[in-house]
Amino acid sequence: MFVETCIAPVNIALIKYWGKRDEELILPINDSLSATLSTDDMCAKTTAAAAASFADNVMWLNGEEVPFEQNPRLMRCLKELQQLAIAKGNLKFPIEWKLHIASRNNFPTAAGLASSAAGYACLVYTLAQLYGVESEELTAIARQGSGSACRSLHGGFVRWHMGTDHDGTDSVALPIVPAEHWQDFHILILVVNDSRKKTSSTVGMKRCVETSDLLKYRAQHCVPQRIAAITDAIKQHDFPKLAEITMRDTNQFHAIALDTFPPCVYMNDVSHAIVEFVHAFNKAAGEVKLAYSFDAGPNACLFLLEKDVSTALAAIQTSFPNDAGESVEYVKGIPIKCVEINAFSGDLPKHDKNLFKYIIHTRIGTGPQRLDKSQSLLNISTGLPFEN
Ligand code: DP6
Repeated sequence: MFVETCIAPVNIALIKYWGKRDEELILPINDSLSATLSTDDMCAKTTAAAAASFADNVMWLNGEEVPFEQNPRLMRCLKELQQLAIAKGNLKFPIEWKLHIASRNNFPTAAGLASSAAGYACLVYTLAQLYGVESEELTAIARQGSGSACRSLHGGFVRWHMGTDHDGTDSVALPIVPAEHWQDFHILILVVNDSRKKTSSTVGMKRCVETSDLLKYRAQHCVPQRIAAITDAIKQHDFPKLAEITMRDTNQFHAIALDTFPPCVYMNDVSHAIVEFVHAFNKAAGEVKLAYSFDAGPNACLFLLEKDVSTALAAIQTSFPNDAGESVEYVKGIPIKCVEINAFSGDLPKHDKNLFKYIIHTRIGTGPQRLDKSQSLLNISTGLPFEN
């Protein structure tokens, strides 16, 4: 049995990918740009095994068996990797051998946090190790699993170039700067309580492409300028500039969602309260220290510098008190030293208790990594997942 285990990070877009020009190949209508989050706090982990004794391709996601050959995106990624492996010509085992794949996220999938991006990036990276393919083409393959996944194959700040080729070969993600360039770039994820039925990104963005005029305007006129300006801001460590561009872009993305017919509503009242809070915080601080971004759901991603984390958390606790206080179950990830913020707490809006499920504190991080055999999610004598 040949076995490989790897982890891959979550990424959060500062300039959003929203809209496809080709649904099958997953080719976007605009470039996007993201920050890769540290795998210390959030990651997908995948073990892939190949053996002559496996009768079928089988996949388990978070312990549950899920469709494999009936999943066209998964099959497309697999076929592409197999073709690359054949072209390379140094296969360790016959290409016909079936696979067992187990994958887990170390963060709740239900939290609506970019799990497909980390998941598909991890799947493609792990299969590439298994088939002995180390190629620059991996981001174009991960893209065909889930668009945003291509950005999770690099660390630091990453740009997904939309490309112009019909076959998608130039629609690839490339690094802008590695994580070490901006070590003190931190992230707070506010996971809000929400029970509404969600429209998936895939379905929502299709409806937006079909019915929103604003979407075309953004792709053509706003995104190119924003990508250039935010790339400069990243290279120069200009946080206020990065923050403003990020907030304007997420706001416009949700405006497009509302411009869709029937509209897609992703943010809820708590999300809007967070937006108001961030602007109040920045005003009270006298400078832009905090930025928000929302994906296709109500949770907020806040970007900030390490030196401002304690004050920002104290302000969050003032505006959005929680019975869980500063417990490790509530404030997960990198521990935060708490501070008093009497100085400007009076300027912050006050909300009801317990509006957030929990908060995750993390930082910018590196791309996927290969792990040793002891980390396998599959029992290497049976090829079946461990029960945990
Ligand atoms: C709002 O990559 O999940 O998170 O390509 O259809 O799988 P598919 O969509 P997906 O969309 C992500 C949209 C977003 C913005 C972003 O990550 O850029």
